[in-house]
Amino acid sequence: MGDELFTITKENLESGLRGVPVGYCTTSQVDPQKGISYCEHPIESLAFWEPEKVIYLLYHGEEPSEEQLNSFKGDLQKRSNCSPQTIKGILNLPRAGHPMKLFCASILIDGMYDINGNYREDCLNIIARIPEITAAVIRHHAGWGAPIPSKPELGYMENFVQMLSPPNTDLKKLGNVMKLFNILHYDHGGGNLSTFVGKAIASGLEDMYGSLSGAMCALAGPRHGKANQDALEFVQKVLYESNGDATPEVISQILDNKLMNKKLVFGFGHAVLRQEDPRAAIFFEFAEKNFKDFPLYKICKMIRQVGPDLLKKHSNAADPYPNVDLISGTILTAAGFPYPEYFTVLFGLARIVGIAIQIVYERCEAKGGKGTPIIRPKYVYKPHGT
Ligand code: MLT
Repeated sequence: MGDELFTITKENLESGLRGVPVGYCTTSQVDPQKGISYCEHPIESLAFWEPEKVIYLLYHGEEPSEEQLNSFKGDLQKRSNCSPQTIKGILNLPRAGHPMKLFCASILIDGMYDINGNYREDCLNIIARIPEITAAVIRHHAGWGAPIPSKPELGYMENFVQMLSPPNTDLKKLGNVMKLFNILHYDHGGGNLSTFVGKAIASGLEDMYGSLSGAMCALAGPRHGKANQDALEFVQKVLYESNGDATPEVISQILDNKLMNKKLVFGFGHAVLRQEDPRAAIFFEFAEKNFKDFPLYKICKMIRQVGPDLLKKHSNAADPYPNVDLISGTILTAAGFPYPEYFTVLFGLARIVGIAIQIVYERCEAKGGKGTPIIRPKYVYKPHGT
């Protein structure tokens, strides 16, 4: 008999597998009190590293030397150009519907034209190419004009921001925020929905592109990645309802009314965390330094201050504390990217990194290199209507 990790009871059924251990994750772990760490580095310690350095850490499990980092950056640059057919395919996609639909489709298109078939190679290729794919998807969907040629020598996120070039935006200011946003969203343990789905699809030996496209469909839902869009819209609404008179008392009253009327308060709570999400705390500190007087930020700050006590008063939420979504959209807006419908796409651009690397582990390294078996949990039979 092996070591017992968890006892399954009937209460665990239909509970979203909450707390049920199903495998190993080599890239990151989420501690209920301390939040996320990447390869044992607390998120606070690497939030302002270069993105390529964090990707190296997640991929190799250790911090690179300067020489290793330079060679890794060179490798990513070499892999970074999408095939012209991928870009043409993206430009032929309908512009109807949520941009996440185009994003998921564009990953499949890229795989149709440029697949290697080896999970390790495809992992690095898609990580290198996803900034160009994402910029093309957003520009096409938003109608901002033709794709802007890639200049990978600028750096991973610097190049993304220049390829994105939203109208009338200070690219330097946006670049700093995009780097931070990107790093904070690379990975969040093995069991978040999109990561789990990506690994589940890959367990059937579907290739990296199909697995990631499915993972991104999972990310698109409002309970997962779309929460950042919904949270910004919520903060905007609270700003509007406060009618130019925002004080903690007024905000408290607005939230209290919402909770009393069983309306949702966005940007709080997490399946694993039992304290404020450190990713939110990092964003708040950044905003305090850079966007102190931005009206939406001031509202966010007050929501952060009064929200936990109100949630404790009105609900028995296991985690009444702010999560990353409370502030991430406000930061993007303050930095000159006021386009909530693309926030989940930006989350996807980042999360592809962690999911692709976790897929490499499960397909190529787990179980002494044999890989994990196809996902096939048991469902207990229950007759209709019982
Ligand atoms: C995430 O970053 O994936 C979210 O916090 C959701 C989760 O961890 O379940």
